[in-house]
Amino acid sequence: MPEANSNGQRSPRILVAGSSAELREGLRNVLREHPSHPEVFEAADSDSTLAIAQEQRPDVILVDVGLGPVDGFETVRNLIASVPGTSVLLLANRLEHEDFRRALQVGARDMLQVPVTREDLFASIDAALAVSLGKRTALEGYNAAEAEPQRAMGLAVFSTKGGTGKTFIATNVAAGLAQAGKRVALLDFDLQFGDAAIALGLVPERTIYDLVQTYTELDEQLVKEFMLPHVSGLQLLPAPLFPDQAEEITPGDIKRVLEAVGGAFDYVVIDSPPFFEERILIALEWADTVIHIGSMDLPSIKNMKVSFGAMDAIGHPREKIRLVMNRADSRVGLEIADCEKHLGMTVQHSIPSSIEVPRALNSGEVVLLSRPGSRVARELAGIISVFEQVEANGKRRGLSRLRRS
Ligand SMILES: Nc1ncnc2c1ncn2[C@@H]1O[C@H](COP(=O)(O)OP(=O)(O)OP(=O)(O)O)[C@@H](O)[C@H]1O
Ligand SMILES: [Mg+2]
Repeated sequence: MPEANSNGQRSPRILVAGSSAELREGLRNVLREHPSHPEVFEAADSDSTLAIAQEQRPDVILVDVGLGPVDGFETVRNLIASVPGTSVLLLANRLEHEDFRRALQVGARDMLQVPVTREDLFASIDAALAVSLGKRTALEGYNAAEAEPQRAMGLAVFSTKGGTGKTFIATNVAAGLAQAGKRVALLDFDLQFGDAAIALGLVPERTIYDLVQTYTELDEQLVKEFMLPHVSGLQLLPAPLFPDQAEEITPGDIKRVLEAVGGAFDYVVIDSPPFFEERILIALEWADTVIHIGSMDLPSIKNMKVSFGAMDAIGHPREKIRLVMNRADSRVGLEIADCEKHLGMTVQHSIPSSIEVPRALNSGEVVLLSRPGSRVARELAGIISVFEQVEANGKRRGLSRLRRS
């Protein structure tokens, strides 16, 4: 049975191709835990792999090199040639240098050694999914930035790891900008488990789900009717109240919402789920800046590297990313300089760990407003002032033209 659809019109699709039933079963069980709830297909030989791939158009195909009768490498070559928009990962018991080179030659995105850890598998799958979904988005030719040059500055808060502080930072940045007199929309695009309303102490009755289910044509007035005002002045478009409603929100709905709010606000801040999927890719593409949140531990650094690699592969300029380390003073043996070295990127902001953060979140307060003198609030204010400067300079098309601070 296919997993629950969490991707609007279409869940990510993953095809597992290998002659060993044990390998396929093992991978299927792990993939079941992937946060995007992919629909998983299986093929036991090269012929059925091609046939299923052409019929189901999977986003990612995992191919065991030991596949037969046509071997894994040749099967990858055939898949790349006949299934556009898919990304293929090769699996092998041993990773020989020569095999790795051949894998890349035939068009595989990566080669993984089995048994593969859940973390490594998900990291490769996430990067591959981002690339295939990005290709599809690009094929659809969506480019709201060109369509609406005068629109709001879009700030998407993102990370591929859960619990890094996306919602905390999205709500604070949005509230801070609103408090400064800007017209700010906060869109909770963590469609399944979004909790921006709770973080702001708001109780939604209507959400993005009701908006897109009720109206096909959206304009700013309509969207505003479904938004909740916060005391800071920001307007929140809440995530659906029930996780299963998230499945019914399509990539097209996300585009319509972005287009409708783009002309009506100075800033549109977007909160995200902790993984790549088509709808969030549309928002990341639309945004002028991706505020990428990281934390100071090696798994998170590795995750970020994968995430940046995926963004590179789908054509996001690195300049569009603003890197924020959260809980940056945690005593875990890593310094900011270490993180920068691992990532090959400058950390522009770091926010310390503070008990004020959960305390504020749990009581529906925004720490920036309730504890303005705290170090956390001062760092948040630093992030906000960068965007205000950009706006004041009239450079709405993002931070690419702003010298890194
Ligand atoms: N700087 C900080 N100091 C202390 N606690 C923090 C800090 N930043 C975030 N937290 C805590 O970490 C938890 C997760 O934060 P938050 O919900 O913002 O993360 P998230 O990335 O949105 O998570 P999810 O991926 O589940 O949506 C919260 O309980 C929050 O209070
Ligand atoms: Mg969150």
